[in-house]
Amino acid sequence: MQRNTTTSDGITETLVAWAAGFELKLAQLLTPSDETPAELVEAMRYALLGGGKRLRPFLVTRCCELLGGSADEALPAAAALECVHVFSLVHDDLPAMDDDDLRRGRPTCHKKFNEWQAILAGDGLLAYAFELISTQVADPVRATAIVRELAVRTGWSGMIGGQVADISGENQPPTRERAEYVHVRKTAALFVGACRMGALSAGASVDRVDRIGEFGLHLGCAFQIADDLLDVTATADELGKQTGKDASAGKQSFPAAIGVDASRQVATEEMDRSLACLADFGPEADDLRQLAVFVVNRRH
Ligand code: IPE
Ligand code: IPE
Ligand code: MG
Ligand code: MG
Ligand code: MG
Repeated sequence: MQRNTTTSDGITETLVAWAAGFELKLAQLLTPSDETPAELVEAMRYALLGGGKRLRPFLVTRCCELLGGSADEALPAAAALECVHVFSLVHDDLPAMDDDDLRRGRPTCHKKFNEWQAILAGDGLLAYAFELISTQVADPVRATAIVRELAVRTGWSGMIGGQVADISGENQPPTRERAEYVHVRKTAALFVGACRMGALSAGASVDRVDRIGEFGLHLGCAFQIADDLLDVTATADELGKQTGKDASAGKQSFPAAIGVDASRQVATEEMDRSLACLADFGPEADDLRQLAVFVVNRRH
């Protein structure tokens, strides 16, 4: 088989510039009203704005464009998915879960505010995601399909199911099978959702939605193996979050299950699988190809 020669050249700059524009749009979308309590708004805006790579909304947008839609058409789904992702981070960091003090280079939401505010800010972001899609996607059939997609990828068979497996897997002997089970759900589910929601925002056919979702699955698996590796090999300064936490918590991580070198190998295999899902596309998919390479080679 021909070796993949795609590089991640340029994608870091593309992402940083894209994230800056997206941040402004998010800030506008999350404008409070007389009906929204100030202490909730403050915690929601703190968690959502000011940092993050914004990979998932970037994926929503690029997949939408790749399949014939526009960035504007992708915006409700992109913003909604980032709200769900940030909800997952706020709750993931709580003392009852991973008990972390640092996120995106700043105090975690419950450290900056307090636990009840962080719990409710997360809940608020989750609900707002669905409010966004149902109020901002004009076509009701498309809105229903996107809402359904987000619900499935977020819920008991998706990210939340994965978070349960992540916590209940602590202190069971680490195995590749257990780690994969956790990764597919807690992380890859939202990557699948990102790609599929982008495609649905473009009104793509079922076949194309499924195929781009497969790209998201392999990308998400590569991404979480890299996250596990960075927990072992990077510094808190680089990541903006504490490192060395997975081993001390007894997590089902890839490095714990099969070691660092073999984990790098599997991450590369997943990247190659994700790239193969883009084989039908020409240079218009180059951003997504570069993103796949970035995901496994990143230092943050
Ligand atoms: C962190 O995701 C949570 C995981 C699934 C590992 P990211 O690394 O994408 O976090 P941000 O959004 O850039 O902060
Ligand atoms: C988190 O996985 C996945 C989520 C659903 C938030 P991790 O617990 O490994 O994420 P980090 O390392 O804290 O960002
Ligand atoms: Mg966790
Ligand atoms: Mg965590
Ligand atoms: Mg991690």
